[in-house]
Amino acid sequence: MSSELLQLAGVNKRFGAQVVLNDVTFGVAPGEIVGLVGPNGSGKTTTINVISGLLQADDGVIDFMGHKINRLPMYRRAHLGINRTFQVPKVFREMSVRENVEVAGRCLRLEPSEIDAILDEIGLAGVATRIAGSLTVNQQKLLDLGRALATRPKLLLVDEIGAGLNPAELNVMAELLEKLSARGIAMIVVEHLLEFLNRITERVIVLGAGRMLFEGPLATASRDPEVIAAFIGAV
Ligand SMILES: Nc1ncnc2c1ncn2[C@@H]1O[C@H](COP(=O)(O)OP(=O)(O)O)[C@@H](O)[C@H]1O
Ligand SMILES: [Mg+2]
Repeated sequence: MSSELLQLAGVNKRFGAQVVLNDVTFGVAPGEIVGLVGPNGSGKTTTINVISGLLQADDGVIDFMGHKINRLPMYRRAHLGINRTFQVPKVFREMSVRENVEVAGRCLRLEPSEIDAILDEIGLAGVATRIAGSLTVNQQKLLDLGRALATRPKLLLVDEIGAGLNPAELNVMAELLEKLSARGIAMIVVEHLLEFLNRITERVIVLGAGRMLFEGPLATASRDPEVIAAFIGAV
């Protein structure tokens, strides 16, 4: 039995004839932040989708805390402690900020004080009564994260949360993710912003056309000929 929280072994995913994930194999330890990088279309979001249960992997094993979760529907995986944010934040635009977190926390019957704590943590306590559709992109990303936190995740899958944020907002986001990790929440962070990623990760996985090209520190990845070729080939 592995000491990893999450372990993927030989995961494949095809869309028709297109192989989108090819033998993807890696683990994530409790509280660890692993970066996932690669050119557009390399399979990063699909990796998150097959872990969260939005999509089913075709082959391979996805093990979470000793459970083989390959065939479990998304809500069962959420119950086990896997949740995610979306590349385009998914918030209920007509509801208030607070209601968005409340709805996400309904399954676990979160106490009002826990909702308050989440709103504080994501820095949106001051706009709790605002309609979510009126928030900035940065605030919507924070709220999407808050909604995921309302399920008390052990593993958070974070898809391009830094895109579109200014340097000050990125700084706050990096601090927040580091704080969550220090509290024991593991993360897979898909990101194009390498400086941001370098700050919060010790290990990244590089995907190229669905295959793992590299696993290790980001600084080493940027010197790896296969990684360089994948990025240049994609330009
Ligand atoms: N639901 C889908 N149906 C068909 N093809 C898809 C679907 N989702 C993603 N793809 C294709 O799979 C490949 C990987 O996509 P994705 O995982 O979104 O890449 P990334 O997040 O790395 O940019 C792309 O070629 C994309 O067009
Ligand atoms: Mg993507």
